[in-house]
Amino acid sequence: MRTVQYAEYGPPGVLRIVEEPEPHAGPGEIRIAVRASSVSPGEVRSRSGAMREVLPAVFPVRTGYDAAGVVDELGEGVTGTRVGDEVFGATAMTARGSNADHVNLAMWARRPAGWTWEEAAGATGAVETSFRVLDRLAVGAGHTVLVHGAAGGTGSVAVQLAAARGATVLGTASEHNHGFLRSLGAEPTTYGPGLAERIRALAPSGVDAVFDCAGGVLPDLVAIAGDPARVVTVADITAAAHGVHMSHTAPGASVGPPDPPAAHGLAIAVELAEQGRLRIPVAGAFPLAEVAAAHALSEGGHARGKIVLLH
Ligand SMILES: NC(=O)c1ccc[n+]([C@@H]2O[C@H](COP(=O)([O-])OP(=O)(O)OC[C@H]3O[C@@H](n4cnc5c(N)ncnc54)[C@H](OP(=O)(O)O)[C@@H]3O)[C@@H](O)[C@H]2O)c1
Repeated sequence: MRTVQYAEYGPPGVLRIVEEPEPHAGPGEIRIAVRASSVSPGEVRSRSGAMREVLPAVFPVRTGYDAAGVVDELGEGVTGTRVGDEVFGATAMTARGSNADHVNLAMWARRPAGWTWEEAAGATGAVETSFRVLDRLAVGAGHTVLVHGAAGGTGSVAVQLAAARGATVLGTASEHNHGFLRSLGAEPTTYGPGLAERIRALAPSGVDAVFDCAGGVLPDLVAIAGDPARVVTVADITAAAHGVHMSHTAPGASVGPPDPPAAHGLAIAVELAEQGRLRIPVAGAFPLAEVAAAHALSEGGHARGKIVLLH
């Protein structure tokens, strides 16, 4: 089967399609025939070498964390899922390799009616991350939440999930994405100088929680929330210096211990999707063989939603 791998740090051109034997589902896992998989910005940075101090690569690296497809093998102990089911999910954090024709999933849920394969492929990382952070921030009805970096693959899902909890959501994005943010349920504003003043004007009674999906401005975000405990970042490795929690699920990363993955979010996402309250914006879809172009789009830093590969 085809896999995507790299054997050295570098630009997207270091990615290779490599033939490998198919994996087999281990205990508690399922194997799927992949219809679509996604590209995550964290993996794109890892490939470039920018993360080598935080989490050094062990070459060759097989890429891809989330995917959607048809179940074709059940591991020992799996119940409630059958061969032939259409699912979306993700590998174990330490396994990876979903940008391939077959992959073992460690968490999954059935594909909601109405989600395309592209949407389903892009869902898991964004949904799991959003539940992990919104739960930690205890976001609920009546709260006001700022999602910083709201137009990206993670932020665009976080906005919808916070709105579904009954929160008032503010989101930052470039001006051309403001209509998009409104369509997801957020009141938009631009990022950059003057952010605290703009947020104060939009939320005169204050902000209860900040979900940072962009990084780089933690002092401003702490000032907006009024307390570092009310800010969680998934994108800023300087978090500890600001008293902010950096949420991640990667064992061995040098940015503090991993949080448990919020796998329970997948089933709730299915319900919300089938109620028409959650969609997965897709910024671009590429054939698997064009994975380098997909990485290049992610590296541009302005994708509006998830970037997926079609198998
Ligand atoms: N730790 C974890 O568990 C975890 C999980 C998922 C993601 N992440 C990390 O979280 C970050 C976001 O992920 P993602 O999937 O949403 O990435 P993404 O899809 O690549 O994000 C692209 C978005 O970032 C926005 N953006 C660019 N520069 C910005 C800035 N200075 N301020 C605010 N927004 C800005 C862009 O908005 P405009 O085009 O409107 O400018 C664009 O919509 C990445 O660093 C990723 O690695 C971490």
